[in-house]
Amino acid sequence: MEQKDDKLKEVISHAKEYGFVFPSSEIYDGLAATYDYGPLGAELKNNIKSYWWKSMVQMNDNIVGIDSSIFMHPSIWKASGHVDAFNDPLIDNKDSKKRYRADVLIEEHVEKIRLKIEKEVQKGAKKFGADFDEIQFKLTNPNVLRNSEKIHEIEARFKETLDNDDLEGVHQLIVDLDIVCPISGTKNWTEVRQFNLMFSTELGSVTGDASKIYLRPETAQGIFVNFLNVQKSSRMKVPFGIAQIGKAFRNEIVARQFIFRMREFEQMEMQFFVRPGEEMKWYEHWKQKRIAWHHSLGLGEELYRTHDHIKLAHYANAACDVEFNFPMGFKELEGIHSRTDFDLKQHESFSGKKMQYFDPEINQNYIPYVVETSVGLDRLFLSIFSASHKNEILEDGSERTVLSLPPALAPYKVAIMPLTRKDGLSEKATEVWNMLKMDFNCQYDEKDSPGKRYRRQDAIGTPFCVMIDHQTMEDNTVTIRDRDTMQQERIAIADLAKMIDDKTNVKHLLK
Ligand code: GAP
Repeated sequence: MEQKDDKLKEVISHAKEYGFVFPSSEIYDGLAATYDYGPLGAELKNNIKSYWWKSMVQMNDNIVGIDSSIFMHPSIWKASGHVDAFNDPLIDNKDSKKRYRADVLIEEHVEKIRLKIEKEVQKGAKKFGADFDEIQFKLTNPNVLRNSEKIHEIEARFKETLDNDDLEGVHQLIVDLDIVCPISGTKNWTEVRQFNLMFSTELGSVTGDASKIYLRPETAQGIFVNFLNVQKSSRMKVPFGIAQIGKAFRNEIVARQFIFRMREFEQMEMQFFVRPGEEMKWYEHWKQKRIAWHHSLGLGEELYRTHDHIKLAHYANAACDVEFNFPMGFKELEGIHSRTDFDLKQHESFSGKKMQYFDPEINQNYIPYVVETSVGLDRLFLSIFSASHKNEILEDGSERTVLSLPPALAPYKVAIMPLTRKDGLSEKATEVWNMLKMDFNCQYDEKDSPGKRYRRQDAIGTPFCVMIDHQTMEDNTVTIRDRDTMQQERIAIADLAKMIDDKTNVKHLLK
């Protein structure tokens, strides 16, 4: 646990030091669970967005994108079920006065048992070496079996309480599992209450319920209510998708863990409209597609796992999370949901407007079913940033911190450096910078020793450093240093653009 906390602290401090992420309103001691992206953070975030948009919208001829407003008619949130059911069960510890999400306390307890199983498996693997059969071991080892049974029992009981809206049962489960408050160490819990996560405000100058509007808690509803506008104006045929990137707001009860759980965050969502009855096929399709997309980032496939929901949201008939091994352990990164025809049907009923599609191939009108993929941009940022953040010991015993970001996403693709400011090297370096800046985001850096400059570029994830030296003035060649191998090679200035493009073009990820 301590190690995980240390890793998260290191990531937070690195993000601040180099201008990726700052605590919001810091000079006023911050505002809980809100963060600002600095110059490099904004670049990285934009690159992640572009990659998602390109692969989701521009590379699928049956998906189009929109940008809908954050404020929407308040009836939308009645229809979608958010006013009545977008709740988290919260519980307070009476001694520490700290508030927790009851479901998260239980999930974290289960995760601890899961870690015990993992440790037992690792012990077995060490003991039996090459002969180790993990499946057989898990089926026969008494400790693993006992802990698996425990997880099974907790999850079954938890599901039953949630399905029956039995908050007293959730409270009893926390008590029975001997879950203590991490701050006070006591089991002195209040009862469990439901807490609605939507922020509300008032439209115009009138006050009162009539003018109450909400800040959207998901971008998806902007897509649902525009379903026919988009279908007709873009002449889309089912199956087709509508994608959107935008801000969402949730009054999270517990919002720690940096940009993992924020009160203002960004989602990248896609709703895929399909024929009724075909939703499971498309659910599997998008599940596989999204996992492959995450793997394409090259951070390591072992950092991802999937988790099928035991408690389905009010709108879903199947749902799974893609989880990522964040510095705090495996947690949800993206949700893939089969949302049935719930939302469109509800909007038809609340608005009184038809939400039907005429399918010319089967000559029928119907309300399409929807499969949704929904990833949090800030969580994606944290996954990429934390997995790329490494402290390395080099061959000569020195250390470096490197941010081995996927080159296509790196804020700067190349840093241009004159060896010294004298002898016309600065002017020559400016010339190279001017030449490359049309194609790449380049940084010009002439301060400090070359070694210090290389370290700084490593720490912000710049894939290449180009050094202009005295030989450059004679033969128009430069050295180019690779962030990951730290190898330097001498090449002609005329070949720079191609070499940088070969490694940093987003095409590499898209393939
Ligand atoms: N439209 C479906 C939907 O909103 P969700 O599972 O509640 O589903 C989707 O949210 C994704 O949004 C999550 O997988 C997560 O990446 C991101 N997300 C949700 N709440 C968040 C928060 N408070 N802070 C940052 N990201 C969040």
